[in-house]
Formats: sequence, structure tokens, C-alpha cells
Amino acid sequence: MDKILVANWKMNPGTLTEAIELARGSDHEGVILCPPFIYLHTLKDEIMNAALGAQDLFWEGETGPFTGEVSARMLKNLGVSHVVIGHSERRKRFHETTEILNHKLKVALAAGLTPIVCIGEELEEKMSGQSEAVWQKQCAEIFKDIQTNSLIYIAYEPVWAISTNKNALPDTPENATHAINFICSIISSHSTTSVIPAEAGIFGVSPSSIKFLYGGSVNSSNAASFLDIPNVTGLLVGGASLKIPEWQKMMALI
Ligand code: 13P
Repeated sequence: MDKILVANWKMNPGTLTEAIELARGSDHEGVILCPPFIYLHTLKDEIMNAALGAQDLFWEGETGPFTGEVSARMLKNLGVSHVVIGHSERRKRFHETTEILNHKLKVALAAGLTPIVCIGEELEEKMSGQSEAVWQKQCAEIFKDIQTNSLIYIAYEPVWAISTNKNALPDTPENATHAINFICSIISSHSTTSVIPAEAGIFGVSPSSIKFLYGGSVNSSNAASFLDIPNVTGLLVGGASLKIPEWQKMMALI
């Protein structure tokens, strides 16, 4: 199967020794490991088959007076190939707006990093029937003025299905299929917008350069059902990527 698994370790594990052990147990082709920033440099030398991704980046400049931040160029120079943009935990806890995410996407693309852009609705938005409007708005704002043929992953991560949320609800492949097809249609349906080159899709992004991931409480028991969705290229996984036996079962699927 030609699919990928992205491991978003979030703020885990607690020590470098544990991070090395986890990376060695996760070193599989088609895997992208996204550890905390401070482990990236060491882990680069611990893996041979997996790729490295960052969980975030700063939206401005290559170097400069931005205390605590990390630039796209720093990541690229370190050997990082991918970067997660707009994870719902950052949007919620750090108040990242779609405008900020748009800037982050631009600097990631300019530096040659492959972005993994997270799209997804909150439970209240789902319950009030606004999911499609939310996906539409997030895509329109995050992809505003983006002109590229470079590969971009869009990860559909319904916030209500992420395992660390209180009262997380299980998602179904049917809902994920609907969401991903809808987001896919947003990307292609604006291809006639006048500001965009004729061969490109919405926002100047070529539809063929967009690939879709699914994330939200995926584990070894349900991974195959989400990987089987036709438009899904892979999975964005939190909790299950921290448990080597669990992760190894998932790696066997790709
Ligand atoms: P879980 O797999 O723990 O639900 O986390 C999903 C996620 O947030 C990955 O980015």
C-alpha cells in the first residue's frame, strides 16, 4: 500500500532517551515523525527510512527578534522535510488565526517544506450543522493567495474526534469520506476564479498537488478503515504513535 503515516508526538515523550527509543521503533518508509523541536536534531541521525516533520514554525523571517520561535529555514537546514500547520490545539490554545496559518503556509512553501495543513470543525459547529461552512471558510482563508504546484497535505482532523479532547467521539469512515470529498471539491471547484492560472485550482493550488490525510483517534483497530477511503493518502496520528507495539501494527498497513 502506498500510503503514509504522520506521527504527531505533540509534547511527548518526556526525555530524549525515550524519544530515541520511539524513533528507532518507528523508523519505517512512509512514516513522518513529528517530535518536539528539541529532539529533531538528534533524531535525524537515528532514523534511516522515516522522514522528519516539525509540529509548527514561525510565520515571518529566517532569523530575527522572535523569542522562542523557529523559522522555516532553520527547519529546512536541519533536514526537516514536513511541517504541521494549524493543528487545532495551536488554534485553540495559542489563538492561531487562519490569517496566521496563511502566513505559515507561505513561508513553509517558500522554504521547500511540505506543509501538512489541518482542517476540522469543533463539536458545536458539527452539532449546529455548520461543518461544511467551516471547512469552506478555513480552506478559503488558509489558502488565500497561495500559488503553487508543490505537494501540500490537507489533514482533516475533526476536533471532536481527537483523543485528548474530553468526551472525544468516535468518527466513522463515512463522515471522513464526506468531509474529505467536500474539501476536495472546494479545492477543485474554484478553478475558474479569474486571479488563478487556468491550469490551477482554487487559490492557485493545483488540485493534483493536494493529498489528504485523516486524523482523530486513529489506532491499530480502525486505521485500515480510514486508510481505505479512496481519497485518503495517509493518517495523522497522535496518541497511538507513542506506543511502539500499536504503531508497529499500523506501520504494517502501509
Ligand atoms: P489522536 O490520534 O491522539 O486522536 O490525535 C490526533 C491528532 O491530533 C494528530 O495531530
